[in-house]
Amino acid sequence: MPSRLYRLSHESGKASVKALPQSIARIERLRLEVFHGKQDERAIDAAWPLLGDEDAALRHAARVAVESQPVAQWRERALAERSHPWRQLNALIALCRCGGNEDLEPVLVALSLIDSGALSGSQRIAWLRAHELALMRLSPTNPSQRERVADLLLPKFPSGDDREDQLLIGLLAHVDAKGLLDRALPMLTPMRPSTPPAWAEIAQRNKNYGGAIATMLAAMPPAQQIAIAYALRNVKAGWTMEQREAYFAFMAEAKKQKGGASYQGFCKRIVEDAYDNCSDAEKAQLADAVGKARAEPKPFVATQPKGPGRRWQLDEAKAIARTQLQRDRDLQNGRNLFYATGCAGCHQFSGEGKDVGPDLTSLGNRFSADDVLEAILEPSKVVSDQFAGAVLTKKDGSTVFGRVSRREDGGSIVHEVVTATADAAVVRVADGEVARVEPAKLSVMPQGLVDRCSEAELMDLLAYLLSRGN
Ligand code: HEC
Repeated sequence: MPSRLYRLSHESGKASVKALPQSIARIERLRLEVFHGKQDERAIDAAWPLLGDEDAALRHAARVAVESQPVAQWRERALAERSHPWRQLNALIALCRCGGNEDLEPVLVALSLIDSGALSGSQRIAWLRAHELALMRLSPTNPSQRERVADLLLPKFPSGDDREDQLLIGLLAHVDAKGLLDRALPMLTPMRPSTPPAWAEIAQRNKNYGGAIATMLAAMPPAQQIAIAYALRNVKAGWTMEQREAYFAFMAEAKKQKGGASYQGFCKRIVEDAYDNCSDAEKAQLADAVGKARAEPKPFVATQPKGPGRRWQLDEAKAIARTQLQRDRDLQNGRNLFYATGCAGCHQFSGEGKDVGPDLTSLGNRFSADDVLEAILEPSKVVSDQFAGAVLTKKDGSTVFGRVSRREDGGSIVHEVVTATADAAVVRVADGEVARVEPAKLSVMPQGLVDRCSEAELMDLLAYLLSRGN
């Protein structure tokens, strides 16, 4: 802090004038941080006005200072606060975080008296967050409280603002608002992919990235609608059969987007939760719709290389690439070989495949044709630490080689080994059977994967790998 003050007094010109309010905010913040986690009778008076400061970091520091004091000292003041929207909202949020069930009723009343239409966008988010905290932290709620929250918030949904709507639907589903389904289900059709981030437009004009960005945008999951489906999954009562069907039809469509393995898992869990909340009669009628929502994405059916293959040597492959790679290569066949020779079992390309090894989509930006051939034909020559394999030795003396990770499965530890084979088969070994796991210098990527390929086939695969997904 002193060095900053010193610098300020010696600087001249615009920069220091601009820096001044910033620095004052910083000094104020440091002054408040003295009270963090410490009881001090001066804390409330010092922090309270700053609960309404225009600087978000300062408001936060003030709230933490207040929260560090016994709640009995400031509860009444929080509930009576009316002087400034931020000050009131932060005081109530502090009470939600520190209070008990007896505070729930007065907090809900205070929140309901705030004119949310007069708040700024970020204040309205804080107002909704305060409701969320009240219901979560000051629970249990009684039916009358849930009904009042529902009556207050339902008319505001949908607001048209994505962030507000996510909070609103979470709250409305939580309090089981009657009429929520009628408002929310139409929002699931038609499917609306996430808004592209601003940088994507610029990146799309870059010839090295354009293709990959276009592919990514086309496959962007409908994040806002997934948030709605996520909130509705636990709504038990009030569904019509059409609404149930529309819900599962949306999930079936949404799941087809390429969001990676965790996205698939997330969608799957939403479908199962929603299904669990259906009555037996509904389950019987919904078999078809649920079946579609549960269907695994169709695996790519690859045709095997025609050959004739050979034991590929690096120098020979490089020499052939020099003359043959620039010919009209068949990229569709390259994609096919990416699956047929096993690459997709360990690598992603344009959003397809697994992630045992590095994503290869932008390989063309980093690797020359020679580099790629070397990586394929002599995989253990350069092995990055991040992806190095390991040898797992079992107590019976047998060994398994591959990418080893420990994970919990139903309370017990399991070692999962993605074996260094063309089909990247996964072997699971219980913790009790493991003698030791040792890092290995060898790559998990097997050698000889492309030995079934002919000259033309190897060149098609190479061209595909260098295509950056265009
Ligand atoms: C069993 C899993 C596995 C299979 C199958 C596999 N790879 Fe790999 N690959 C890896 C791992 C792990 C690495 C990173 C560690 C290393 O450098 O060896 C890697 C690295 C690479 C690299 C270097 C990438 C970089 O950014 O450094 C290329 C290129 C590559 N693989 C291409 C392929 C191709 C083409 C195929 C199919 C013919 C294939 N791999 C099959 C696991 C696999």
